[in-house]
Amino acid sequence: MARKQRLGVGFVGAGFVARFHIRSFVGVRDADVRGVVGRGGTAEEATAIARSLGVGDAQPFGSITEMVADPAIDAIWICSPNFTRIEVMEEIAHAVESGAGELIGVACEKPLGRTSAEARRMLELVERAGLLHGYLENQLFAPAVVRGKSILWSRGASLTGAPFLARATEEHSGPHMPWFWDGSLQGGGVLNDMMCHSVEVARFLLTPPGASRDVLTPVRVSAHMSCLKWQQPHYADQLSAQSDGATDYRTRPSEDFARALVEYRDADGNERVVEASTSWCYVGAGLRHTMELLGPEYSLSVNTLDAGPKVFFSRKVTGEAGEDLVEKQNAEMGLMPIVSDEESEYGYLAENRHMVQAFRAGRQPDETFMDGVAVADLLMTAYMSAEQGKTIAFPPKNLETFVPAVARGEWNPKAG
Ligand SMILES: NC(=O)c1ccc[n+]([C@@H]2O[C@H](COP(=O)([O-])OP(=O)(O)OC[C@H]3O[C@@H](n4cnc5c(N)ncnc54)[C@H](O)[C@@H]3O)[C@@H](O)[C@H]2O)c1
Repeated sequence: MARKQRLGVGFVGAGFVARFHIRSFVGVRDADVRGVVGRGGTAEEATAIARSLGVGDAQPFGSITEMVADPAIDAIWICSPNFTRIEVMEEIAHAVESGAGELIGVACEKPLGRTSAEARRMLELVERAGLLHGYLENQLFAPAVVRGKSILWSRGASLTGAPFLARATEEHSGPHMPWFWDGSLQGGGVLNDMMCHSVEVARFLLTPPGASRDVLTPVRVSAHMSCLKWQQPHYADQLSAQSDGATDYRTRPSEDFARALVEYRDADGNERVVEASTSWCYVGAGLRHTMELLGPEYSLSVNTLDAGPKVFFSRKVTGEAGEDLVEKQNAEMGLMPIVSDEESEYGYLAENRHMVQAFRAGRQPDETFMDGVAVADLLMTAYMSAEQGKTIAFPPKNLETFVPAVARGEWNPKAG
């Protein structure tokens, strides 16, 4: 494939995460945001953001097929909700296969699918259409993770041995849109929504630099999940009110806390452990990621809320609620951290730069839909373990047909 001089990118989905990506394109060379498909006026808002930032002469499109048919579009970033994954990918694949338009590649936000079966279907569709594919897991590209991993492996691991334990957590006080809270639409609760990041970034930290993911083989998964906060009547009522009654955590909760232990073996049979923890009930300053990597004579620790400047506002500063200091901000008073460049620090900028460079060069990115399938397989096994209250050998037999009880609307820890 000839090297593409400039990549024209079209977005499917124009909400919260698409805007993160669009803002990050300010730092991505040789690519333009040229199109957006959204719902209810969101595409017009997102294209206006893209044009005002000068990241491309973006136009709203009425459908995915129309966007694929436009010769200005070379690649699609899928940023619509989880429950639209298959219909979106089917339309992209159909548009390419029927000759309506040409594309080089597709990049898809996490999770690749709500289940292992959906993730596999995404992979099958993109391969059938002959497209390159990138799985958008931003935390693998966060500068603190990339730099920390590189230094730790080159100094610590080279002299004293490989790291054996990686911990990752992601926590905030709850998602911004009702569909995230609905197990069937989202695929689960916080385990599906956020542990996808934690298991993958921890696996990445334990993997030697430059090695492929199959140097570590998952052998066992044990997990726990609870609904600690949002099933309490007061908070369940709050969710119901925010969603015009659609979210009912009194009878159909999703887990708002989950932890998982994934045991791996490396190529020499050594044990490697990932400990992941996530919650929608963390009321701190805002979104918090932590990552740790431990080896025989060294350790790495990252905490995104500790990374930058802090401000203090006295009780007389009674401004409006906002998200100007940090994503999922919970307060505007007292001592508060500022994440000064969220698009960069959370990894979106480097992630998009990498995907653009790979697609322009006609090669697969470092993180593909195959990685998205691997993550979905681990998460589904974690659900099985939490549901059955026991450690599960990986891969379990019924992985490809398994749907978590949360996603079936059949999980209620208070029901006895
Ligand atoms: N990497 C991360 O840290 C991160 C953060 C947030 C969300 N996400 C993922 O990104 C995706 C979107 O999340 P969000 O927070 O932006 O959600 P959102 O609800 O804020 O935005 C969704 C957007 O998709 C549009 N949409 C809905 N149905 C559509 C369809 N059929 N076709 C095209 N557009 C459609 C909506 O109009 C809206 O613009 C989810 O899969 C989520 O898991 C990832």
